[in-house]
Amino acid sequence: MSGLNDLLYKETYGERDIETLLSLRTPEDVEKLRARANEVLGEYVGDSVYYRGIVEFSNICALDCHYCGIRKSNKQVERYSLDRDTVVSSALWCAGQGYGSVVLQSGERRDPAFIDYVEDLICEIKRITVSDKLPEGVGITLSVGEQSLETYRRFFAAGAHRYLLRIETTDEALYQSLHPASQKLEERKLCLGFLKEAGFQVGSGVMIGSPGQTTAMLARDILFFKEQDIDMIGMGPYLVHNQSPMASKGQMEKSELLQLSLNMIAVCRIVLKDVNIAATTALQAVVSDGRERGLSYGANVTMPNITPTEVRSSYKLYEGKPCMDEGRQECRSCLLGRVRSIGRDVAFDQWGDSKHFAARKTGTARTV
Ligand code: 5AD
Ligand code: FES
Repeated sequence: MSGLNDLLYKETYGERDIETLLSLRTPEDVEKLRARANEVLGEYVGDSVYYRGIVEFSNICALDCHYCGIRKSNKQVERYSLDRDTVVSSALWCAGQGYGSVVLQSGERRDPAFIDYVEDLICEIKRITVSDKLPEGVGITLSVGEQSLETYRRFFAAGAHRYLLRIETTDEALYQSLHPASQKLEERKLCLGFLKEAGFQVGSGVMIGSPGQTTAMLARDILFFKEQDIDMIGMGPYLVHNQSPMASKGQMEKSELLQLSLNMIAVCRIVLKDVNIAATTALQAVVSDGRERGLSYGANVTMPNITPTEVRSSYKLYEGKPCMDEGRQECRSCLLGRVRSIGRDVAFDQWGDSKHFAARKTGTARTV
């Protein structure tokens, strides 16, 4: 494509530019995109891969997102909540393995018992994981959905310092088609603001390829991340869950879904530059080396699953989720092999904070 080189090295990106980059499909163009993403990766964040051991500590959910396998109305799911000892010892195992950070993720609840429980988990994990290698304990990322500003402040004060809250899409009509009327895009945006106000490094992201989504919408999503100064990106392909109301709408053909997802990672890297970007598990549901491919398109974070094997299959958000029968030890060696297979290495015993956050705090955020 003529002019592609200019586009890949632009100073600022508009919606049309981003759409063009997301639409690249010939092997030569895609390779140029990938190469540029890697160049930006090396220049702004380095090529180390950071681990966040993820504990899916409960699948009880009060919400009813139309796409999700653990939505409240799915009566076929066996519900679980891991007890304090199990979650805390999982985090301790992580620290022992040199994973500098954990992610605590669950279905969404806003009742006081849940909030108290999460707050207590954070305090205890921080207390128990302090060591010479991690003088402030493991880094804790939370992913427990929309909460009040007061709740976010409590979680932050307890010691969590990153939070993932996907916007899913910034398109009003698409957002509404994915969620019940009671869930509003405005609320989600408000929560992202609360998280920043509470002091968190803020992660967001979208489901890629959801029914009705266009490339222009994805381009606007990336501009939203830029405008909102998002520090971390976690996004993945939309995949059907057979017991969800959206199952009848089908999903994108897999090779197209994969390339679109990989292009999203590369374009986020090129446009947003110094953010952390995760190669998410859902990529591995599309193709077995999906996470490695995500890393090779500019991602620098991945999340080994450390949820106890007994409950893993009950935390199935979409069909084909990998690592269901494996244990944390198997995921450890498997994932390390995957990262090394593409010539990258894992930075152990580090939090691996978002460089964008540091720049945002000191007012030196690089802008495009
Ligand atoms: N396909 C892909 N991603 C999904 N998520 C939930 N359900 C699905 C699905 N069917 C993602 C959402 C949510 C995150 C925890 O998991 O983006 O924010
Ligand atoms: Fe879990 Fe490969 S990462 S088995």
